[in-house]
Amino acid sequence: MSMRHKRHRGPVVTINWNTTLEVKTRVAVGSGARHKLNSVLAQIGSGRRVLLICQPSTAVHWLRDVMAVLPSEDFQVTTLEVPDGEACKTPEWLIRVWEHLQDRKFERKDTVVALGGGSVSDLAGFAASTYMRGLNLVLLPTSLLAQVDAAIGGKTGINLSAGKNLAGSFYFPKAVIADSEMLVSLPQKQLISGLGEIYKYALIEDTVAKHTDYEVGPRSLLELLEAMAGHTLTAEDPSLGGIISSCIKMKLFVVGKDPHESGLRRCLNLGHTLGHALEKMGDYSLSHGEAVAIGLVADTKLSVDQKRIEKDSLKRLQQMLEKAGLPTKVPSAFRAEKLIEAMSMDKKRDGDKIKLVLPQAKLGQVELDVPISPDDLARVI
Ligand SMILES: NC(=O)c1ccc[n+]([C@@H]2O[C@H](COP(=O)([O-])OP(=O)(O)OC[C@H]3O[C@@H](n4cnc5c(N)ncnc54)[C@H](O)[C@@H]3O)[C@@H](O)[C@H]2O)c1
Ligand SMILES: [Zn+2]
Repeated sequence: MSMRHKRHRGPVVTINWNTTLEVKTRVAVGSGARHKLNSVLAQIGSGRRVLLICQPSTAVHWLRDVMAVLPSEDFQVTTLEVPDGEACKTPEWLIRVWEHLQDRKFERKDTVVALGGGSVSDLAGFAASTYMRGLNLVLLPTSLLAQVDAAIGGKTGINLSAGKNLAGSFYFPKAVIADSEMLVSLPQKQLISGLGEIYKYALIEDTVAKHTDYEVGPRSLLELLEAMAGHTLTAEDPSLGGIISSCIKMKLFVVGKDPHESGLRRCLNLGHTLGHALEKMGDYSLSHGEAVAIGLVADTKLSVDQKRIEKDSLKRLQQMLEKAGLPTKVPSAFRAEKLIEAMSMDKKRDGDKIKLVLPQAKLGQVELDVPISPDDLARVI
């Protein structure tokens, strides 16, 4: 494995991840990284046919720009625009992608490129993993959430009427190109949503460093976020590129160690058990990152109750999230018993207890699989 890392606005950084047979993803991260798509396709040995799957927003803002990187003498590029958000993660759209590939005579060496947020990469990944038992897949995530999370880690999926992400696969893209410049067109609510996920990484950073080769920088992610918390986050923030790069590395290291979530990978679920329940019970009125932010505070409160962490850490986290424009409390419209019911469906249980990831000793460290009773949960919710 080789890894180099530079800050935002510097040259594009390439990360070659090769620690296990299953996880072989090239990651290009940095401002302007999308211009590497042509050379990335050459490096992965792509066939001539390339399908670019985009969503309405990325079709407007980025499609022409990305098409310009792919010379017609090298590639036959076709495009498919899918509906915005969860509306594209359906069996119907999966079939439409398969049919597009079939009509254009795609072969196994040809490539599917996802140009969009996490909904597009989930659909495109599932389609690429299943058509002819697997085409080349390259992800060009355009939302902050997709850059730090959805595009990394090899999970793909679509929703069924019974629930979110019920059909899917583990399928690692050949390359991920995370271009922070593409975030300039992202609506502020979506930028803040990505920030909620980044706080999760900050709260697991020391644990990831302890169990993998990930190294904490001269300033921890939490310290960087604390310095930024006083002002509104913008895509042009000079710290953002470095922060995205740290989150990607953290996820790659964790996934490389535990691709199928049998141990360490569970630390990525911090804040997510309550977060998922809030998203579902609120009919997705809270964005993913907002719901996760509330979940992070609830998990930290549980830690304080269990004397795992000092109350001051909880206060520090709450203040940072509030300054960053993220919510910290369960909105009053939610009923605790319904949320707890939804949380029990989401997670492994130990009798009537739910196993959660909780902050341990200091912000940055976590303990996995802590059994929590419904009464303890009700108190913090
Ligand atoms: N596979 C995984 O490991 C994983 C992890 C986390 C989330 N997810 C999935 O990801 C999805 C959420 O990701 P998301 O928040 O990126 O959702 P999304 O794809 O719905 O994008 C959010 C919104 O931002 C818009 N957008 C995206 N990039 C833009 C840009 N550059 N400029 C302007 N608008 C832009 C989209 O049109 C959309 O309206 C969910 O479906 C979730 O299940 C998957
Ligand atoms: Zn998440």
